[in-house]
Amino acid sequence: MSRKRVLSGMRPTGRLHMGHLFGALDNWRNLQEEYDCFFFIADWHALTTDYADPSQIKTFTIEVVLDWLAAGLDPRKATFFVQSRLPEHAELHLLFSMFTPLAWLERVPTYKEQREQITDKDLGTYGFLGYPLLQAADILIYKAHYVPVGVDQVPHIELTREVARRFNFLYRPVLVEPEPLLTEFPKIPGTDGRKMSKSYDNAIFLSDTPEEITAKIKPMITDPARKRRTDPGNPEVCPVYDLHKVFTPKAERDSYIVPGCTTAGIGCLDCKQALLKHALPMLAPISERRAELARDPDTVLEILEDGTARAKKVASETLAEVKAAMQI
Ligand code: TRP
Ligand code: SF4
Repeated sequence: MSRKRVLSGMRPTGRLHMGHLFGALDNWRNLQEEYDCFFFIADWHALTTDYADPSQIKTFTIEVVLDWLAAGLDPRKATFFVQSRLPEHAELHLLFSMFTPLAWLERVPTYKEQREQITDKDLGTYGFLGYPLLQAADILIYKAHYVPVGVDQVPHIELTREVARRFNFLYRPVLVEPEPLLTEFPKIPGTDGRKMSKSYDNAIFLSDTPEEITAKIKPMITDPARKRRTDPGNPEVCPVYDLHKVFTPKAERDSYIVPGCTTAGIGCLDCKQALLKHALPMLAPISERRAELARDPDTVLEILEDGTARAKKVASETLAEVKAAMQI
């Protein structure tokens, strides 16, 4: 019996950081053991917002694949490819556009929100409105059963299911309705206490060396109540403690960090040292592996070549079925 298929993608908008590691990559690494996984770089999706300055997209495509490999995604287990190498996605998107009501796209919450929030780019384009329909084509062309995504993407999966249903109803039952795989992921604050994000300049990247990580953790924001070494603190309001939750064993947190903080028995620097003691052995191999892979860019290109060929086989098969059903 063949394994169920999982598909997910990321836009190439920059190097990946710890938020991506705990929010997505750890989960993808587990999924590749059990499912037939397809992971791809959504460079056309990056173009929907960055069409005016596409100069970074190619570089970031390679950077993100390097991050994936460094984090333990394995090309012998999963298939990696770049969206724009598969014109089949674009053709399916076009065919879908014929029977997708405009209102379905206009009511997608991310569409409305981003049109309002992103003011430095003109998103009043055809491509941006079609963003979730292109995503539907990405997913349905592989007949994926599961799509691991964050909660913000759930409306896109919902739209994907509606498109599949409408196709299957209008023509013939060819397409599979996918389900989102929502992962519980821990809160990963950046060094300033806000959500970790490249645009806030508060991120710890998978490419950061132990020295760079140490230099970012040392000045990290803590509980503001601990102005002086003798002031007790509360780990539950401290972003450093959020990191302890993902790196430090619970026994040590309960016996050393929490009592040390709440009684002012330890200082914040001691606390950060304890964090680094656990975080660096986990993170150092990732940046080392990444640096090693980056020295040989041909390896990445070969992995993508191979993945493209594997993806093309599945995508062209589905597209042929779709075209036959639509009599075109
Ligand atoms: N929209 C997704 C994001 O911004 C990226 C994406 C494009 C995607 N196509 C996909 C994710 C298909 C899952 C499946 O994160
Ligand atoms: Fe945060 Fe640790 Fe300082 Fe407490 S001791 S405020 S948990 S850094």
